[in-house]
Amino acid sequence: MTIRRTPGGVPGRTARPRRYLMCRPEYFEVSYAINAWMDPTKPVDTARAVMQWERLHDLYLSLGHQVDLIDPLPGLPDMVYAANGATVVDGKVLGARFRNVERAAEGPAYQEWFRANGFTEVLDPEFVNEGEGDFLVTTNFVLAGWGFRSTPEGHLEAQEFFGKPVIGLRLTDPRYYHLDTALAVLDGDEVMYHPAAFSAGSRAVLEQLFPDALLVGEQDAGAFGLNAVSDGRHVVIPEAAQTLAEQLRGRGFEPIGMDLSELLKGGGSVKCCTLEIRA
Ligand code: ARG
Repeated sequence: MTIRRTPGGVPGRTARPRRYLMCRPEYFEVSYAINAWMDPTKPVDTARAVMQWERLHDLYLSLGHQVDLIDPLPGLPDMVYAANGATVVDGKVLGARFRNVERAAEGPAYQEWFRANGFTEVLDPEFVNEGEGDFLVTTNFVLAGWGFRSTPEGHLEAQEFFGKPVIGLRLTDPRYYHLDTALAVLDGDEVMYHPAAFSAGSRAVLEQLFPDALLVGEQDAGAFGLNAVSDGRHVVIPEAAQTLAEQLRGRGFEPIGMDLSELLKGGGSVKCCTLEIRA
C-alpha cells in the first residue's frame, strides 16, 4: 500500500477502478423478519427503493467503475443485497449458502450468474456463508464474521478454497448481524470498525491486526455507516453517518453520502447492495 502525504500531512488517496455486481430491487419488500431491522408491518415504497438504488448504481459508473447486473427474481425480496450472493477473490467464486430458508434460492441464482458469465471456478459451498455480508477481503486476510449467519465451518471452507488466512470475528450485537454492518475495508489492510459489535476476544484480534484502524462510534454504526464501499479514495456511506464522514476526510478519503432509507428497512445499505468481483 502506498500512501502519499499531501502538504497538510493528510495522506493522498488513489482510487482503483472496480467491478461490482448489483441487483435492481424490483421485487423488494419486507415480508418477513430475519434481522433486527426488519418490520413487516412497516410500509415499504418499492419505487423509491429502486430510485435510491439507481443513484448508487449511477454513482459507481460516474466514479469509473464497472457494474454488472443480475436479474432480480420474484419472491426473493432480499436479492437486492448482492453482497450476500458470493465472495470473489482472484476470479475464484465461493458461492453462498444462506442460513434462512427465505433466502436459500438466492445462492444458486448467484452461482448461475457467475457460471453464465465466464467464471470457471465456482464452488457450491457445503457450509453456511452469506458471501461478502460476512467475508471482507483485505490485502492479507479474509475477515469473516460469525455468531448470527456465517459459520466457522464456512470460514474454513473459504480458507481452503481461496488459500488466504481467514480471521474469524465474533459478532455479538443483533443489530450488527453481518460483518459488513460492523466493519469495512478502506484500502489494502486498512479498515474501520465499531468495536462494541464484537466479542472481547475478537476486539483484541482486531487491535492486534489493525492497530491504526479507524474506530467508529455508536451513532454512525447505528446509521449503517460501516456498510460502506471504498475504492481506495471515495468511500460511499449512508449520508446520516456524518461524524464518520469527517473522520474519513481527516484520513484523506473522500466520503460520499447516499440516501438508501428504503433499503435500510430490510437491514441493508450501500455495501449490502454491492458485491465486488475481484478478477
Ligand atoms: N434482509 C437481509 C438479511 O437479513 C439483509 C441483508 C443485508 N446484507 C448485508 N450484506 N448485510 O439477510
